[in-house]
Amino acid sequence: MTFEQLHLKKENKIAFVTITREKKLNALDSATIQELHEAFSVLDIDSQVRAIVIMGQGQKAFVAGADIAEFSSFNQQQGEALSRLGHEKLFAFVENLSTPVIAAINGYALGGGLELALSCHMRVASDNARMGLPEVTLGLIPGYGGTRRLGQIIGKGRAHQMVATGQMISADKAMQWGLVNEIYTQEELVPKATELALKIAANAPISVSHSIKAINAQYSNSVESFETEIQLFGACFATNDFKEGTSAFLEKRKPDFKGN
Ligand code: CAA
Repeated sequence: MTFEQLHLKKENKIAFVTITREKKLNALDSATIQELHEAFSVLDIDSQVRAIVIMGQGQKAFVAGADIAEFSSFNQQQGEALSRLGHEKLFAFVENLSTPVIAAINGYALGGGLELALSCHMRVASDNARMGLPEVTLGLIPGYGGTRRLGQIIGKGRAHQMVATGQMISADKAMQWGLVNEIYTQEELVPKATELALKIAANAPISVSHSIKAINAQYSNSVESFETEIQLFGACFATNDFKEGTSAFLEKRKPDFKGN
């Protein structure tokens, strides 16, 4: 299987998936989401793979979000479809895999990038990592499950703070808030994520996959919350502030939001 936006490696029952759009800080465009879907689909049914580690290429970013250039001219309907497809193909898909996925957050994890990490079963980070959901600075809200999963992991008050301010937090703060399980240096990150994956790989695979299902079941009583997120994410695309926010990012200037 060959990929344009990913690199895939398998070693000692561990699969390593690297997103290779380093020049765009590994931003998730639709082609990357599709390839991730295909890679995870294949790895999940490969009996030789007991755990998956996902990371971004380079030392700067895990994933800096959904690809703003790709959706900046979308209308409400397209915005809603973008969110719905992302949920189905990647974010809910990863969360519900039978194989545990570890996000090795090697730099910025922003917007859809942090949402991808939130969909993974475990997160470890390098000490230079910075995490945030900056969608409100673009005239958007998180559209890939962040409005639900962030609060489940760090608590409602902290989730409101991160989403409403759009500010990034440091790896240390993320550790303190339980957003990541461990912090390592850049050099240690992948070896340590591999160590964690190997510990999992030594256990009974059916038990591990049943434990994922059982833990997820404790948090899945509000399926309609995803629908709310999808609808409201789409509604943002009908505002002038969305056009202003995304244009400002692409033109490398500060947005001037008018509230309409
Ligand atoms: N989409 C598209 N391109 C992106 C991107 C993104 N999310 N993030 C970075 N890039 C691109 C930049 O446009 C730039 O491209 P060019 O070299 O062609 O100009 C390249 O990656 C390098 O980025 P910067 O020059 O901006 O690097 P920096 O070091 O100055 O800043 C950063 C780094 C703070 C992460 C900044 O890139 C940034 O703020 N990125 C956007 C983060 C963001 O808003 N993410 C949320 C996206 S919306 C979303 O995810 C919606 C959802 O929930 C579904």
